[in-house]
Amino acid sequence: MQQNIYLLGAPGAGKGTQAQLLSEKLGIPQLSTGEMLRSARLEGSELGSRVAAIMDAGKLVSDGIVIELVEHRLARADHQDGVILDGFPRTIPQAEALDALFARTGRSALKVIAVDVPADEIRRRLQGRRWCTRCKKTYHITDNPPPPGQSCEGGGTCLLELRSDDKPEAVEKRLQTYADQTAPLLAHYRAKGTFFSVNGMGKIGDIFSAVMACILA
Ligand code: AP5
Repeated sequence: MQQNIYLLGAPGAGKGTQAQLLSEKLGIPQLSTGEMLRSARLEGSELGSRVAAIMDAGKLVSDGIVIELVEHRLARADHQDGVILDGFPRTIPQAEALDALFARTGRSALKVIAVDVPADEIRRRLQGRRWCTRCKKTYHITDNPPPPGQSCEGGGTCLLELRSDDKPEAVEKRLQTYADQTAPLLAHYRAKGTFFSVNGMGKIGDIFSAVMACILA
């Protein structure tokens, strides 16, 4: 059966970390709009240069751009057994566009799992986050470092960097953007039925068990 899962939460709540684990466990792809936009920037594409300043300022890229990206990605053959959505939708218009797309393409209903983490812990996590610009994996300098001897999928050791939107001013703006534009999706999806919420505080493995329990419920 097709499994469509959506991880909803503030920046730094651990959506990407959990989505990566879910993708490995369930064998379905992770679809991260943030990751797609960062890749466009690394490639130096026209889209990448259009969105760079918006992302670094902690604002949202326009609905039209991300909806088009998602629509193309969901049409791919390797996304037909299901998908783990990470960072999309992020506004009510994006959620409505996704509903319409699911209805049009006959996809199974979305299971929504909200990951809840307080703002102070988010600030701490984002300050210590590093990502590999080559294999795109995310780590934390103290809580989730790369395992010793682990080599990068791109070859050699990972090229770890602070994300340009993890600087303190951008993090504050992203938290505000989340409260204003994304948090209303909690009520939107709660009213629809298949909505779960997990406590995002604690060990990554324990949170993963809680997320899996929602999926199996
Ligand atoms: P995006 O990349 O989606 O950023 P985000 O939603 O702000 O989420 P993050 O990637 O910052 O955090 P996360 O929840 O995935 O946490 P992670 O697992 O890394 O988007 C970036 C930008 O792109 C947006 O600001 C916007 O401009 C644009 N954009 C993207 N999608 C868009 C859309 N749909 N519409 C419009 N614009 C869009 O974990 C964080 C850190 O904590 C890591 O270091 C991790 O190792 C660590 N960690 C994780 N879990 C734990 C734990 N349990 N305990 C301790 N540490 C932990």
